[in-house]
Amino acid sequence: MGYISVAEHEKLPFQVKRIYWTYFTPEDVTRGGHAHYDLEQILVAVAGKIVVETELLNGDKNNFVLDKPYVGLYIPKMCWRVMQYSHNSVQMCIASIVYSESDYIREYSEFKKR
Ligand code: TYD
Repeated sequence: MGYISVAEHEKLPFQVKRIYWTYFTPEDVTRGGHAHYDLEQILVAVAGKIVVETELLNGDKNNFVLDKPYVGLYIPKMCWRVMQYSHNSVQMCIASIVYSESDYIREYSEFKKR
């Protein structure tokens, strides 16, 4: 029969500005390596598997395995993240702001100074 998963605006922790998705990320590529001043996101592996490592400003580190198309991972502002993808993964990203390079902190040392 199959399943349906839904994200309803009223039930999300922020106002949604943008949804984008990425796919065909090679398995030997590590993505992320940045934090954001304002961006909040929800990541969903709608297919395949994504491993997400996060670090908050207070030093809390976590590892998440996203491999269920009905599970989303909320990533708050000022959260360093690093991701790896299975070859068949499709990542959907629900975002609170539009893409803006000036919202990125791409230097880990800069993130740790905050
Ligand atoms: P980035 O957010 O660093 O990707 P990831 O965290 O998945 O590794 O974005 C990768 C590149 O793509 C970077 O040069 C910025 C660019 N980009 C856009 O042009 N538009 C977008 O909407 C996003 C998210 C990234």
